[in-house]
Amino acid sequence: MEFNAKDENSIKELYQDCLNGQKRSYAPYSKANVGACLWTKDKKKFYGANIENASYGLTVCAERNAMFSYVLNGAKKEDIIVLGIVANFKGYAWPCGACRQVMAELLKPSTVVVIFDQKGDYKVSSVEELLPYSFTQEDLN
Ligand code: THU
Repeated sequence: MEFNAKDENSIKELYQDCLNGQKRSYAPYSKANVGACLWTKDKKKFYGANIENASYGLTVCAERNAMFSYVLNGAKKEDIIVLGIVANFKGYAWPCGACRQVMAELLKPSTVVVIFDQKGDYKVSSVEELLPYSFTQEDLN
């Protein structure tokens, strides 16, 4: 199954999943709680939240943790159909540049990315759209 971004029920479910991921956020410094969730074709779900550190630069973003989780649990890039992201700050939870680079590595260019705001309004994008002309493994061949 592919992710159908026109299906409101799928979007609502993904939003709830992102909020569930967000519950695990550890952000005592910024107080910015970010949550993410990835779905596979057969609807396995991998959650992520941002994890901060007193040494600020060691912080890892929510969507990066969700992607690392799928790798660590043995899921395959080809099977990931969507990544959702939510945050408790105003506006949409646009992913940072570092996360976009990791998306280019660990997700297909066509994978759907749904960026939510706090109320559940959303923008639909893709990995390719979020990071065009990306540097990837192919450049090293
Ligand atoms: N953050 C994410 O989790 N994802 C992003 O793409 C942007 C930033 C987190 C990192 C940090 O814990 C907090 O938001 C403030 O930058």
